[in-house]
Amino acid sequence: MSLVDLRALPRHVAIIMDGNGRWAQRQGFLRTLGHREGSESVRRIVRASRRLGLDALTLYAFSEQNWERPQLEVDALMHLLEDFLVSERDELIARGIRLRTIGRRHRLPARVRGVLEAVMRDTEHLDRMTLTLALSYGGQEEIADAAREIARQAAAGALDPERVDVRSFGNVLPSMEVGPVDLLVRTSGELRISNFLLWATAYAELHFTDRLWPEFT
Ligand code: FPP
Repeated sequence: MSLVDLRALPRHVAIIMDGNGRWAQRQGFLRTLGHREGSESVRRIVRASRRLGLDALTLYAFSEQNWERPQLEVDALMHLLEDFLVSERDELIARGIRLRTIGRRHRLPARVRGVLEAVMRDTEHLDRMTLTLALSYGGQEEIADAAREIARQAAAGALDPERVDVRSFGNVLPSMEVGPVDLLVRTSGELRISNFLLWATAYAELHFTDRLWPEFT
């Protein structure tokens, strides 16, 4: 903490948490163990972000494309998410952290959705920091969904197409509710955006590190 210039902090940090599988393979473990270690990193980074005083932290926890992974791995990720929510609920409340999600939440298993929605309800009044979990999320999907909604309103005569501009479009994107991203981090050495926050990162600074997510501090 003492190395950080607290006057020059980004307001909103977004992270592509990559490298759980490689971390596990390197030690001869199953990939799912890498995800478990990755969820420990999530706990650590959420705490550190709150301590630093960030306004918003957005984590790419599960992409629309992640559904194509082997069922066992998807199940393990859903389990870890549920575990995280159950075990961190009180901590989020104690630290004033509001939890929200972006993405197609209806695709999540009912059990996970139930826990998720309960924690979101219990933290919706908190305002020290907003933790957004991108779940079943895709940046192109988000933009397409917003375009469809705008087209629907225009077709119904409720919206003048001439009034659609960068600001009004951004206002209908769920990811933009916490404002644009100032700093985007991706771990594990890949130099790609992988369909994460396409609109909100338009002016973000990008930081790529070779560190794998389980060892990111
Ligand atoms: C990438 O590792 C990471 C993910 C697929 C999702 C991130 C999930 C977690 C950190 C754990 C659970 C989340 C929460 C919020 C508790 P990878 O499998 O793509 O790694 P690889 O590229 O090395 O195979």
